[in-house]
Amino acid sequence: MKAVICTKYGIPEVLQIKEIIKPKPKNNEVLIKVYATTAHIGDTRIRRVDPFLVRLIFGLFRPRKNLTLGLEISGIIEDVGKNVKSFKVGDEVFALTGFGLGGYAEYRCLPEKVKEGKQERKGLVAIKPKNLTYEEAATVPAGGLTALKNLQKAKISKGHKILINGASGSLGTYAIQLAKYYGAEVTAVCSAQNFDLVKSIGADNVIDYTKEDFTQIQDKYDIVYDAVMKSKASKCRKILKRNSVFINNYRLPKIKGDDLLYLKGLIEKNKLKPVIDRTYSMEDIVEAHRYVDKGHKKGNVAIRMR
Ligand SMILES: NC(=O)c1ccc[n+]([C@@H]2O[C@H](COP(=O)([O-])OP(=O)(O)OC[C@H]3O[C@@H](n4cnc5c(N)ncnc54)[C@H](OP(=O)(O)O)[C@@H]3O)[C@@H](O)[C@H]2O)c1
Repeated sequence: MKAVICTKYGIPEVLQIKEIIKPKPKNNEVLIKVYATTAHIGDTRIRRVDPFLVRLIFGLFRPRKNLTLGLEISGIIEDVGKNVKSFKVGDEVFALTGFGLGGYAEYRCLPEKVKEGKQERKGLVAIKPKNLTYEEAATVPAGGLTALKNLQKAKISKGHKILINGASGSLGTYAIQLAKYYGAEVTAVCSAQNFDLVKSIGADNVIDYTKEDFTQIQDKYDIVYDAVMKSKASKCRKILKRNSVFINNYRLPKIKGDDLLYLKGLIEKNKLKPVIDRTYSMEDIVEAHRYVDKGHKKGNVAIRMR
């Protein structure tokens, strides 16, 4: 099968399409024919070795053999292991591969269930939302689940005032919609060129980060979510109410298969919709990574694998 291999660490050109062995599902796995994946900021950070820890996980001097990036996918189940009960051949699915990666390939095996201590729980594969294309569905698992778990960790609820920094990115566009779903009032921090976008998905107020320092404004918030990781709790003291919460993307609570089903439910009720900035084909993966490296994408960048 074809896969995009990260042949070295560095510039986008290190990504090269190669032939590698098609995987076979184990007894507890499904084989997914991948239709779409994403150029996620996490993929670009592994490729660029940011942070250095990447080398300890994916190869000290060079990436381990046939390192295939890709944190999230959508596609069709082509085969199932003999113990798999909840999926069948032909099911349309979306999935988080997470740091197991491997989404930049024509096929990816994932477990139906994963072990947690002595117990088993659902894996991070779920039936794709009916109202999304493969490209849209592939962008949901990483950004959608990260935003969801962060807002739940902050105990967001009706009537809360939340400020989201980096509101036009992948996490930001999911966080705005989820915060509105939970009944919060949302202030979105982004550049003026993205005001229309963030308002169209629910932002009540906007602040242009290129003109104003949001940490110095008069308003106070129950939650400040630094989705783009450019600020600090200590800088935001002035705008945080008593007993309020500052969150960024460090120390995420554990993500479970049910969380993916929860997002699917919201999407099918039209409460959540992925924002797609651009879609590239697998052959244009270098171009896609170059674009994401610039740091100005709006929502998500999808990769069509077929
Ligand atoms: N996405 C995930 O699933 C995930 C999961 C865990 C951790 N993270 C981490 O979370 C951070 C954000 O991820 P992301 O995927 O949301 O990134 P992203 O989509 O690449 O963010 C791009 C957006 O950030 C905006 N931006 C850039 N500099 C800004 C600034 N100083 N202030 C406010 N907005 C700014 C850009 O708007 P302009 O064009 O207007 O500058 C652009 O729309 C990254 O550090 C990532 O590694 C992401």
